[in-house]
Amino acid sequence: MTDPAVNTPVPEAVGELYDRLTLNAMREGTFNPNVHIGYWDTPDSEASIEDAMDRLTDVFIERMGVDGASHVLDLGCGVGGPGLRVVDRTGARVTGISISEEQIRTANRLAAEAGVADRAVFQHGDAMKLPFADGSFDAVMALESLCHMPDREQVLAEISRVLVPGGRLVLTDVFERAPRKEVRHPGIDSFCRGLMATMADVDDYVPMLHRTGLRVRELLDVTEQTTLRTGRELTGPAGSSGERPAALDEGNFGFGEAAFHPADLAGVDDFGCLLVTAERP
Ligand SMILES: C[S@@+](CC[C@H](N)C(=O)[O-])C[C@H]1O[C@@H](n2cnc3c(N)ncnc32)[C@H](O)[C@@H]1O
Repeated sequence: MTDPAVNTPVPEAVGELYDRLTLNAMREGTFNPNVHIGYWDTPDSEASIEDAMDRLTDVFIERMGVDGASHVLDLGCGVGGPGLRVVDRTGARVTGISISEEQIRTANRLAAEAGVADRAVFQHGDAMKLPFADGSFDAVMALESLCHMPDREQVLAEISRVLVPGGRLVLTDVFERAPRKEVRHPGIDSFCRGLMATMADVDDYVPMLHRTGLRVRELLDVTEQTTLRTGRELTGPAGSSGERPAALDEGNFGFGEAAFHPADLAGVDDFGCLLVTAERP
């Protein structure tokens, strides 16, 4: 297994990566307000990838238990798609934080265009040191963002600090499914290098939540519903045979030698996705 220390993400560099990805997507006309995987409830679901991306946000909404009186923190908020959906579906107030200035500019523009700039505010900042007072939020959502942060335990401690007692945390994270292969699939290394990410240690997740003062409500392996199916949808039949479809090459999620392409992970069933719900007692 690759030494995780080699790939420890540096927040400023992650911010610059997402700045470039946001600007590239706008230039190439591939902009999507959701920067995350899809969620398909059943293997025979025919939902499009766009609908499945919204469905993932709805899965979070079902677990957060928020309403119009709630204040939600979207930790690693991307360009605001999930946060704006939470405002629309629940009436809650959302504050989003991202390490990418470009994403924050875009998210605030989308909030203004949707006429909800008074309910959805996005700000630049580092989740490793949240610029919020203790007990500021009724819920925290973190869709695919912890994998880019240098120290998950520190982030969880920060989340625990800013949650009110009884407040919920819902997150997705990536991990290597058991049994762990002796040699890691190269697609996982490509994901970690290209997107400046690390894989979580699933065996330590519950203890880590407990060490940071959070109580586990649910921990699910949602690989089949999310990453595996997203890989299939993005790469098509060519992806499943390991071929890299040329049409998707411009959609690389990285740059230069470290470029990552979704086809790198097509059919890799040890690249797992966790869905975790916890609460601050
Ligand atoms: C895969 S994107 C997910 C975006 C969004 N949650 C969504 O689902 O559309 C990862 C996000 O985590 C943010 N992020 C990564 N490291 C961060 C850090 N240290 N502090 C704040 N945000 C961070 C990135 O800027 C980006 O917005």
